[in-house]
Amino acid sequence: MIFKQLFEPVSSTYTYVLGCPETGRAVLIDPVVNSIDRDLQVLQELGLRLVYTLDTHIHADHITSARELKKRTGSRIAAPAIDRLDCVDVGIEEGPPLQVGSIGVRGLHTPGHTDGHFAFVAGERVFTGDALLIDGCGRTDFQNGDADTLYRSVTGKLFSLPDETLVYPAHDYAGRHVSSIAQEKTRNPRLGGGRTLEEFRQIMASLNLPYPKFIDYAVPGNRSCGECPADLPQELQKYCGQMAESPQG
Ligand SMILES: [Fe+2]
Repeated sequence: MIFKQLFEPVSSTYTYVLGCPETGRAVLIDPVVNSIDRDLQVLQELGLRLVYTLDTHIHADHITSARELKKRTGSRIAAPAIDRLDCVDVGIEEGPPLQVGSIGVRGLHTPGHTDGHFAFVAGERVFTGDALLIDGCGRTDFQNGDADTLYRSVTGKLFSLPDETLVYPAHDYAGRHVSSIAQEKTRNPRLGGGRTLEEFRQIMASLNLPYPKFIDYAVPGNRSCGECPADLPQELQKYCGQMAESPQG
């Protein structure tokens, strides 16, 4: 498999390129709208043709480029079916994998950060979205998040994957790139080392995180598969990059 991890600095998001070496078909997991030109250039350099974009969940901290990539490349929009978005071409459920050439991408429903959140397994890698981060996890206080549910998703489902499975998260804020199921099981300070549900509940309840500054724009934008709002305040325009000047229809 052709594989590349790309970083979007405004929201510290990782976007992943998975490409089939035989067919040249590719999928982008969690692409970000303000990095669209970079991502298209990377695909071109790798000689890949984008057939799907695939989002782990309805993001609150950036806008997906799914809609714009579809417009520019003809790619199809794949996302969890459970969110019932009208703009999605391929609704992902647990079951048969999404086939991208020879690559099978298997969905795992991992709610708790959002109720519709999915992780994706491809070969020896798992793309954990915001359910499981390196030494952390996504917040559970918005978008029907729930700490008990996230605990079950991570310890029950993700930690059941083989220990050597490589963990690729949707974000990292400290320059870390990759972990493994064994590492997170052992030393994730919130969920590893045998943390109990009660301990996890207390950790999540005492985070005191600020209100997410882009959520009121990102969630509606992502419910349309990536529309940059026309009324974006000046200080938030970096989230849409060059897209901000040309409102999307
Ligand atoms: Fe998220």
